[in-house]
Amino acid sequence: MRVTINDIKAMKGKGQRIPMVTAYDYPTAKLVDEAGMPFILVGDSLGQVVLGYESTVRVTMEEMLHHIKAVVRGAQRALVVADMPFMSYQSDVAAAIRNAGRMLQEGGAGAVKLEGGEHMAETVRRIVECGIPVMGHIGLTPQSVHQLGGYKVQGRTPRAAAKLVRDAHALEEAGAFSIVLESVPTQLSRIITQRLAIPTIGIGAGPFCDGQVQVLHDMMGMFTDFVPKHARRYANLGEVFKEATAQYIKEVQEGAFPTEKESFTMDESVLAELEGVRD
Ligand code: KIV
Repeated sequence: MRVTINDIKAMKGKGQRIPMVTAYDYPTAKLVDEAGMPFILVGDSLGQVVLGYESTVRVTMEEMLHHIKAVVRGAQRALVVADMPFMSYQSDVAAAIRNAGRMLQEGGAGAVKLEGGEHMAETVRRIVECGIPVMGHIGLTPQSVHQLGGYKVQGRTPRAAAKLVRDAHALEEAGAFSIVLESVPTQLSRIITQRLAIPTIGIGAGPFCDGQVQVLHDMMGMFTDFVPKHARRYANLGEVFKEATAQYIKEVQEGAFPTEKESFTMDESVLAELEGVRD
């Protein structure tokens, strides 16, 4: 049975830490699902780690939907959360509801995630009222990178920290079932986590969040343009990939691939007949 938002919320109640990772395609979704991951995010980090954009700002609804469908086909058990891309929900509530609906109806996701605190609370409330579970995202909100002036830790001043606490409460009151806290000081994420009934999922927010989310390509060493401080590398698949590719190139060039083992034969009688035929 697929994990539900109630299962995720119950994990906080039981004091169980919640692991979450991003996935963007069928094979990786299948692998992380089979490894036991309960919670998958089709993040708009897709734009950087898969599509090669310089930020998430360029990602479109159609690109997100394309990848959400693949992830949903690959993940049989995990709850799949779909990131709402830049400008798919900010301009007006009706568009936000329509686009969130597409994530579930066309994409097959179980919930959506959107960035923003108090100013997005009304949008979150209306989407939730339509029966669409929403995950909030506050702190460093990469879609606002141009406004923030870079990828910086948020909530370090008393005023900014108090604002983030208010943002978290506003999202909870609006009906969000969980909230991503990105790049906020550990002490602040602990306070927010203690004050909320819904789970906080941290990325660069220290160990006291109810769960953690990581970008799969950072964890697996598959994206090397830059490695964020908050990422821990669990494997170096990029190197494995390059070594395997170099080996393949060498074997093709040397005639060592393919051998009989990777080839097919035809019946001797068919061959004899063929050899008897002259053009
Ligand atoms: O797009 C993404 O991968 C995210 C995570 C960093 C939380 O939003």
